[in-house]
Amino acid sequence: YLEGERARGQRHVNVDPAKLSVLFRPLPPMLVKPIAPAECQSMPELRAQALACTRCEHLVASRKQVVFGVGNEAADILFVGEAPGADDDARGEPFVGAAGELLTRMLKAMDLAREEVYITNILKCRPDTPNQRNDHRAPTAHEMATCSDWLHRQIDFIQPKVIVALGKVAVGGLLEMENAPITKMRGTWHTYRGIPLMPTFHPAYLLHKETMQNK
Ligand code: URA
Repeated sequence: YLEGERARGQRHVNVDPAKLSVLFRPLPPMLVKPIAPAECQSMPELRAQALACTRCEHLVASRKQVVFGVGNEAADILFVGEAPGADDDARGEPFVGAAGELLTRMLKAMDLAREEVYITNILKCRPDTPNQRNDHRAPTAHEMATCSDWLHRQIDFIQPKVIVALGKVAVGGLLEMENAPITKMRGTWHTYRGIPLMPTFHPAYLLHKETMQNK
């Protein structure tokens, strides 16, 4: 937000001192503890470490596998979704279910193949549900905070020119917003660690609310 303001020529902001002081509070140890203490030199190394991640015991117990990401590791465009669904968990690849098919069609409409871009999620494991086969639940803030280091490191390796955040959960996870107003934010540029970020509706939302305006 501040980078956006600076780009628009704004040089001063008024900040409530009480809010500012929150920034100086130390983060809970859970949030600052690095996931993979060993330095990773490459994406394959990072992937190998992520595939063995055991940070969220409940997800380790319920997942079939970690869904790390797929595509071109030097892609210009990175697509970030929410979390793997049942089909993605079974295949070990993000966006292979119905929402994924729509995403693939959207890419084709932009003259892009899945292999040209990189596709991943905020959360690398399928969120567990009481009825594991069909149900869906959004990742919790705690799960996203625990997992976010993997995504940060992926982004460091890929160095995309643009990030497309698919849906309000991805937008909220990347921009650290509790309740991202996706309808307001979509179609306007934001910045994630200096990288232009475009929020869009999630393909799963479009499956149910496919209007020309939403598309
Ligand atoms: N499949 C994914 O990999 N991510 C989503 O956000 C939805 C479905």
